[in-house]
Amino acid sequence: MKALVLAGGKGTRLRPLTHTSAKQLVPVANKPVLHYGLEAIRDAGITSVGIVIGDTGPEVRAAVGDGSRFGLDVTYIPQEAPLGLAHCVLIAREFLGDEPFVMYLGDNFLLDGIADLVNAFREADHDVQILLTKVAEPQFYGVAELGPDGEILRLEEKPEHPRSDLAIVGVYTFSPVIHEAVRAIRPSARGELEITDAITWLIGKGHRVHSHFVTGYWRDTGRLQDMLECNRMVLEAIEPDVRGTVDALSEITGRVDIGPGTTVERSVIRGPAIIGAGTRIDGSYIGPYTSIGEGCVLEEAGVEYSIVLGDSAIRGVSGLTYSLIGRNVEVTRAVGLPNTHQLMIGDHSRVQVRA
Ligand code: G1P
Repeated sequence: MKALVLAGGKGTRLRPLTHTSAKQLVPVANKPVLHYGLEAIRDAGITSVGIVIGDTGPEVRAAVGDGSRFGLDVTYIPQEAPLGLAHCVLIAREFLGDEPFVMYLGDNFLLDGIADLVNAFREADHDVQILLTKVAEPQFYGVAELGPDGEILRLEEKPEHPRSDLAIVGVYTFSPVIHEAVRAIRPSARGELEITDAITWLIGKGHRVHSHFVTGYWRDTGRLQDMLECNRMVLEAIEPDVRGTVDALSEITGRVDIGPGTTVERSVIRGPAIIGAGTRIDGSYIGPYTSIGEGCVLEEAGVEYSIVLGDSAIRGVSGLTYSLIGRNVEVTRAVGLPNTHQLMIGDHSRVQVRA
């Protein structure tokens, strides 16, 4: 069995970070989301992985390499434009050959991995297995309508009026019949070859399409709130480990992981939290569910329930919460008159200030 990981796409909902960076590389507890997916694939006993890449391909290649450090053998499959999930299967035809495969959307996060799901497919005689889970806002996902015996009646991609609250999780297992389906379908109204249409086509042809419920924690990390929540879930379970130096005036409580070369002075850190290597925390408060990347500086700062990427600085600003702060960002206090906010922010940014 092989795996096809999709790591292209535009990531419009995480702009401006995704103007310069792949959405699959935004870190959860200081590790790119994509790495969790690759580890889950390896733990399911799969080693041959094709990764579909788009505009952010160079960055994905840099973050994954040949896959050997995950115990994987990775082949990159460039996609010229984000033309849909079924288009990814189409262009991966040669890599996939005639083997069954699991298709994994690189921004999906499953806390319990995918070994059980892959094993369920291996043991059964299905052509397709999709994963479903109940969600509060099904209109943002592919939605399945099931019949009285649990059979799939209909799949719809981001319907305005969802017929159920069952979202399609971004991990699919396919037998090679899927290749026929992706060749047969036409682009949707949004101009993409939809995998939901390909699966619907297979149902129409009488193929065995099975749905499996995900009971563990799952999120599509395409939106800020989901990103922050995944971060919280992973931090809940981290092992406390202080490899940096903490002075006697500081207080560290709960699960806190502090990377090597990091210094903490006159500060309070209440876990769960993770601080990357080579960061300086001075006179600051770091509250629960916070990940601070490598090479950051926090001086007289206060931040909680947030993700701060590497090489950023927060100086003299407290009360930051529910925030995702990119790389090489500076958040500083404005001094003197007039009493104003001074912002230089990228396109598609969102800022909420207590004015
Ligand atoms: C894709 C699929 C959708 C699925 C979702 C899960 O949407 O098209 O059916 O529910 O992934 O993450 P996307 O998030 O790429 O818009």
